[in-house]
Amino acid sequence: MGGATLQYVQVKTFYIETFGCQMNAHDSEKVIGTLLDQGYRQVPTPDEAELVFYNTCSIRDKAEQKVFHRLDKFKRDGKGKTFAVLGCVAQQEGEKIFEKAPHVSMVCGSASYNQLPQMLVQLEAGNRRVTGLSLDTDETFETPMTRRDNPHRAYITIIEGCDKKCAYCVVPFTRGPERSRTSASVIREARQLSAMGYSEIQLLGQNVNSYQDPSPAGWDFAKLLDEVGRVEGIRRVRFTTSHPRDFVKPIIDAIDANPFLCNHVHLPVQSGSTRMLEAMQRLYTREEYLQRIAWIKAARRSIAITTDIIVGFPGETETDLAATLDLLSDVEYDSVFSFKYSRRPNTSALALEDHIPEEEKIRRLALVQEHQRQIQIRRNAAYVGAVEECLVEGLNKATGQWIGRTSQYKTLNFLYPGAEESLIGQYVDVRVTRAGANSLVGEYVS
Ligand code: SAH
Ligand code: SF4
Ligand code: F3S
Repeated sequence: MGGATLQYVQVKTFYIETFGCQMNAHDSEKVIGTLLDQGYRQVPTPDEAELVFYNTCSIRDKAEQKVFHRLDKFKRDGKGKTFAVLGCVAQQEGEKIFEKAPHVSMVCGSASYNQLPQMLVQLEAGNRRVTGLSLDTDETFETPMTRRDNPHRAYITIIEGCDKKCAYCVVPFTRGPERSRTSASVIREARQLSAMGYSEIQLLGQNVNSYQDPSPAGWDFAKLLDEVGRVEGIRRVRFTTSHPRDFVKPIIDAIDANPFLCNHVHLPVQSGSTRMLEAMQRLYTREEYLQRIAWIKAARRSIAITTDIIVGFPGETETDLAATLDLLSDVEYDSVFSFKYSRRPNTSALALEDHIPEEEKIRRLALVQEHQRQIQIRRNAAYVGAVEECLVEGLNKATGQWIGRTSQYKTLNFLYPGAEESLIGQYVDVRVTRAGANSLVGEYVS
């Protein structure tokens, strides 16, 4: 029938939803670029799509369950659609996903995205069990087709995978061993981005500090960071995430010397108790961590510091928790992401009993968050009266306020009567007039 031939000339539609960290967000940008290049068209809802992709996260159990909730909804009314599971849950669960969700036709981890075009051909040929699960690749997924979401800030992956063995963490299993990109290819991408009009770059990796240029140039992370900050047209460079063990002083020296590197370091500590850090296999003590903080605070520039905390890891006592609260007070972080410990497959902490009850984890989390909120209120109040350079990220139509982002990665909402939409993407000076726990408010200064 004519309908069958028609199918071949019609453009196939896809929908993609992304969970998890910035690395996943950027992977999706590359996947979208690849799909568009293969002639597929992106649509905004799964209902309109023939191909439905979920790029998944497995960092905590709740994150992992999200994809199965989504898939469950389509168990009955997903007819005619093709489902693909990408990312960390795909890598972790592999072919088991076909059993849990029989309407899924493709399972592919991040180390196999280079093979997406061939996998799509297999799908089109009617193969209902397409997999990309190999982790023993030393390639990083580089594509010239990346379709970026944000018109001003662009991500660049500099290192994939993780060679650490933190006792609670799935990432070494879901993203495989560390593979660094050559410095030449990172710089080339930064130059291209600048030529395309991007002014801010965020370097990505699970542990950017262990970046090691595989080419003869042999740059380390501090050198790479500095050189990206020297690319013409790039006004801001950020990086995430740093592992304290591999965080070296030359990174701070680079920030101090190069005004295009942002005043912000995200340095996950996880716990303020050396005993807990040892149990978590974090490879540093509280004192060693505080040494890194001392370097950052000794910088000439005022560098914002943020962190991640896990509460309720097996064996955590009231004394350990008190040590964490005390560390928060010592460091005075600008922001903290805190999580309840979640037991994860493959990890070494799986052998430990997860003995702290959920209500107790909730209580500890609330303590950490309230403690930190008070710190942020104090810290942010100190900005009132200061003038900060902001990248304008958008306009909140409801309040009439422009949304600005400071070098320290603080949100600074401000008034600029009469400004036009073209302000978005520009850098402007804003005087801070008020401060809350999570953001600053100000007014444009001419
Ligand atoms: N590579 C980064 C972190 C990646 S995961 C680093 O080394 O810091 C982001 C954060 O999730 C971690 O810093 C940790 O605080 C949290 N996290 C990771 N595994 C977790 C688990 N099993 N339960 C609760 N939180 C977890
Ligand atoms: Fe996970 Fe630790 Fe690697 Fe970070 S450094 S990704 S927490 S194993
Ligand atoms: Fe999640 Fe994978 Fe990132 S587990 S946090 S999406 S590396």
